[in-house]
Amino acid sequence: MTESNVLLEIKDLSVEYLSDGKTVHAVNGVDLCLKRGRTLGLVGETGAGKTSICRSILRILPDVGAEITSGEILMEGKDLLHLKEEEMQKIRGKNISMIFQDPMTALNPVERVGDQIAEVIELHQEQGNHEDAVRRAKEMLEIVGIPGERYYDYPHQFSGGMKQRVVIAIALACSPQLLLADEPTTALDVTIQAQVLDLIEDLQKQYETSMLLVTHDMGVVAQVCDEVAVIYAGTIVEYGTKEQIFDHPSHPYTIGLFGAIPSMSEDEMWLHPIDGMPPDPTDLPAGCPFSPRCPYASEACRKDRIQPAVTPDGHMCRCIRIEQSKKGEH
Ligand SMILES: Nc1ncnc2c1ncn2[C@@H]1O[C@H](COP(=O)(O)OP(=O)(O)O)[C@@H](O)[C@H]1O
Ligand SMILES: [Mg+2]
Repeated sequence: MTESNVLLEIKDLSVEYLSDGKTVHAVNGVDLCLKRGRTLGLVGETGAGKTSICRSILRILPDVGAEITSGEILMEGKDLLHLKEEEMQKIRGKNISMIFQDPMTALNPVERVGDQIAEVIELHQEQGNHEDAVRRAKEMLEIVGIPGERYYDYPHQFSGGMKQRVVIAIALACSPQLLLADEPTTALDVTIQAQVLDLIEDLQKQYETSMLLVTHDMGVVAQVCDEVAVIYAGTIVEYGTKEQIFDHPSHPYTIGLFGAIPSMSEDEMWLHPIDGMPPDPTDLPAGCPFSPRCPYASEACRKDRIQPAVTPDGHMCRCIRIEQSKKGEH
């Protein structure tokens, strides 16, 4: 794999929030790599730090009480964290766009949906006038399966699934290189989740967009992702191709996630809680964050941060057991 295949590389990203006088360690030294045209699934329970990572990439963390304390976010080798705000504004919506879990947070309730699409197009188009942007916005509506004449309707005139389609139209209007899809189907009815996911997948292939897909649904990962990163308490505990993760889950947390799947029916492939609770992010364990819940944890697991063990074909697992079994091989 040559360097040029890599679109986005995140190195040692840490994000903290200040909340009630305490420091929330939301993201703790995350490394991620997304190749061009591929889909990386970021999987983990609520509170694991997934949204904080997406917001860091776009630099839309809250202005007050949130801080990126370490790391680099390299897009085609350029560190987004070092860009001026004006430069970031050019990138948002054009090179990188985001689909949020709840479509209502992304749509303005008092503005016609079509205008909201046209606005993004106009903001970034180099040539063309308002009429061109309107025409393109109508085209985008049609592409996501909504008749173009509904351009003039307001968000409340649409169902949840259709609102999310509008959000997708906005996100893809400028053919971004990178789409951050943060639980894009979680807020939707089960019956339309699959349709919306299919739509995202089709458009992503058509536009050759790379995607970071945040989900807590292993069924979604199985359907859409090429690579998978499993995140626990702000730490990537396992990373590999979909085949590596599904065929050889190695971290006790990942194994727990699969082990807890109640049935083989895809609809039920939700992450199931493993015994115990995730650690308090204001008071993380010194060693492996999963050690308090891990059936295999030893003293060593609780002591120091665990270094990743990587197989020659790139399957990473941050677990002392893997390190030990590797040492045993020599
Ligand atoms: N604005 C905020 N202020 C304080 N804590 C926050 C804020 N946003 C997120 N957090 C905390 O950071 C951690 C990670 O949150 P988040 O990135 O939203 O996780 P996920 O998307 O995986 O559910 C959680 O403990 C959450 O409560
Ligand atoms: Mg989230």
